[in-house]
Amino acid sequence: MKTLLVVYVSFTGGARQMAEAAAEGAGGEEGVQVRLLQAPQAGPDDLLGADGYVFAGPEMLGAMAGLLKDLFDRCYYPLLERLQGRPYATLVCAGSDGQGAARQIERIATGWRLKAVAPPLVVCTHAQTPQAIQAPKQLMPAELEACRELGAAMGAGLALGVF
Ligand SMILES: Cc1cc2nc3c(=O)[nH]c(=O)nc-3n(C[C@H](O)[C@H](O)[C@H](O)COP(=O)(O)O)c2cc1C
Repeated sequence: MKTLLVVYVSFTGGARQMAEAAAEGAGGEEGVQVRLLQAPQAGPDDLLGADGYVFAGPEMLGAMAGLLKDLFDRCYYPLLERLQGRPYATLVCAGSDGQGAARQIERIATGWRLKAVAPPLVVCTHAQTPQAIQAPKQLMPAELEACRELGAAMGAGLALGVF
């Protein structure tokens, strides 16, 4: 049995829906168990105990959300040179851009020598005003389907041992 860890941060629900959709997609694969954790609840043992990862969160102020960065800050050195070659994917929920968060996650994953299975999947909510940015998000079915498919691809790859 392989384990996929989906770890996320979300404040208005967008990245949570992305993470849940990816977890659902992966959970449909035989031979794969999925753990869905919020980043503050995750630690080095959770990462070490998984065979692959989905990192999900919003872009905030041009960067990944601080609580996701906190997970990497807590785990980076305890896990350095212990995760080489494991597959990962990145999900970013953004109001207008998302590339800054995606780049930061990729750099850290590169330091760990993780292997990206796909380009970062960025969903843009087009929330531009303070009110829209702070409002609860409901992502479109097609956006969630893309996350589900990415999760399913991760799950299938893990189950088959192709990564
Ligand atoms: C303080 C703050 C800063 C933000 N900065 C950015 C940003 O730099 N780029 C961007 O595309 N969206 C930015 N956003 C918008 C969020 O990424 C967007 O609302 C997203 O849906 C949040 O994800 P969540 O619903 O999972 O909390 C920001 C939102 C907040 C609250």
